[in-house]
Amino acid sequence: MAETPKAENLTWHRGEIGAGDRRKAYGHRGAVLWLTGLSGSGKSTLAHRLERKLLERGCVTYVLDGDNVRHGLNADLGFAPDERKENIRRVGHVARLFADSGALVITAFISPYRADRDQIRAMLPEGDFVEIHVAADLATCEERDPKGLYAKARAGEIKGFTGIDAPYEAPETPELKVDTGSQDVDGSAGDVLAWLEERGYFDAED
Ligand code: ADX
Repeated sequence: MAETPKAENLTWHRGEIGAGDRRKAYGHRGAVLWLTGLSGSGKSTLAHRLERKLLERGCVTYVLDGDNVRHGLNADLGFAPDERKENIRRVGHVARLFADSGALVITAFISPYRADRDQIRAMLPEGDFVEIHVAADLATCEERDPKGLYAKARAGEIKGFTGIDAPYEAPETPELKVDTGSQDVDGSAGDVLAWLEERGYFDAED
């Protein structure tokens, strides 16, 4: 995602405050916790439970959620491959700004394409992109069908639905994989928090 701005004569303004200052002030590092998985896999549920648990620990945190972001910032985008790519590109940049602000930002988007996720990883500092595969299998997601969308997709009323007639490229080497098919949301959230704790994300210094 090395992007060249269309406008000329721009300079990147560096502020007085660095990542280390924010980390010391907030007591944890900033990072993007990038949840990826099928529709109905439990990304939003896990994201909001994580947000609550992080807040209870005193962390600065916020959820960027697929359905919500598509109501505003990305209201102009549908689900064709290039629109999903643009959806994820914009969200990646917003998430980067949040992480740079010192927050632990949680994103909950299907983000079906490996290349799009890898581009976000590449533009973030080492360790700031934590890819979490929310791995409930298709049969489980379809059985849950919380929004009735799989039924519509099977009936041909939605075209290009992820997992039915559009691809989902699972991460090959995510930082973490949580099995939300068999585990409850507190179990999955606990796994994520333990992973972060073990790697020093909740330390005020590097
Ligand atoms: S992404 O593919 O661009 O990452 P995103 O996470 O923003 O998708 O939005 C997914 C949500 O949009 C799904 O949970 C579902 O509610 C809804 N949706 C509507 N149409 C589709 C579709 N064709 N494929 C997948 N999800 C869809």
